[in-house]
Amino acid sequence: MNILITGGHGQLGSDVSTLLGMKHNVFSFGSRELDIADRESVNAAFSQSRPDVLINCAAYTAVDNCETEKEQARQVNVKGPENLAKAMEARNGRIIHISTDYVFAGNKPSTESYNEDDPVAPLSEYGKSKLAGEKAITAHSSNYLILRTAWLYGRQGKNFLKTMLRLALADHTRELKVVNDQYGSLTWTTTLARQIQAVLSSDLQGIAHATAEGASTWYQGACYFLDAMQVPYNISPCVTSEYPTPAHRPANSILDNRRLKQAGLSVFNSWQKDIDQFVKLHKKELIEEATQS
Ligand SMILES: NC(=O)c1ccc[n+]([C@@H]2O[C@H](COP(=O)([O-])OP(=O)(O)OC[C@H]3O[C@@H](n4cnc5c(N)ncnc54)[C@H](OP(=O)(O)O)[C@@H]3O)[C@@H](O)[C@H]2O)c1
Repeated sequence: MNILITGGHGQLGSDVSTLLGMKHNVFSFGSRELDIADRESVNAAFSQSRPDVLINCAAYTAVDNCETEKEQARQVNVKGPENLAKAMEARNGRIIHISTDYVFAGNKPSTESYNEDDPVAPLSEYGKSKLAGEKAITAHSSNYLILRTAWLYGRQGKNFLKTMLRLALADHTRELKVVNDQYGSLTWTTTLARQIQAVLSSDLQGIAHATAEGASTWYQGACYFLDAMQVPYNISPCVTSEYPTPAHRPANSILDNRRLKQAGLSVFNSWQKDIDQFVKLHKKELIEEATQS
């Protein structure tokens, strides 16, 4: 099977490219080789790769910057999926598109989670652009799967856990305040890549939630990770209002992987188990990278 992966150098795209490259004919492109917002660039990549399946891991992911860079976010998160869906439809191919927990407003109590039928109401420009991207896929493809994921971390690229590690290693006595009233599920890109591999051999269509099992706050997640890394730290919990950001984030964006479970396809573990495994595999490189940057 020919598989085209966009955003192939990103956190998720790099893990998906490595995993699927073991069994399939993978064409993995970064934004320099394939700009999804540019139809000519999309056409050229399609001529080269002749994809049976396209996995769109490309996105404008700088959540706070989306508040001011609205047009850039729209080009990548809306026009890009539209271009890809149209090109895939012309080939009668399947598109797997990655979306986000930030399509929800997050006002459910933290003991509850969001399933695929819950109403969407994004709070941020990022969430709005990703929701419009979902709509572009559904409007222009008859063979699609949208996987909504959340709070990604992985070996490649930048993420919250790596930032916590870098700051703790720079000065473990310096007090760091971390938000303790936003709930979600830290999700390892390696497990999400396995989930994408699992859905490839199914005919699951529509929207499915795809995150680690269980939930934490950012504060709880940071403490769990640094404990697993055996790195000393001085982190205190704070509330969102003490740490204002340009983009509003949902207080609760815990997703229930209901459709994947009903289809018997979910490969997800608890978020703690995945962090343990992430640390076991990558502790040394993570420390090296954090102390060099
Ligand atoms: N990170 C999270 O916590 C999170 C949470 C929920 C959902 N998601 C979704 O999960 C997916 C993967 O996220 P990620 O964390 O892996 O993101 P990431 O590391 O920021 O990677 C995104 C990639 O998109 C590429 N890209 C940007 N503009 C592009 C364009 N015009 N054409 C082609 N490629 C372009 C970038 O390529 P270059 O590096 O080559 O410029 C980048 O490598 C995205 O759809 C994101 O919205 C992420």
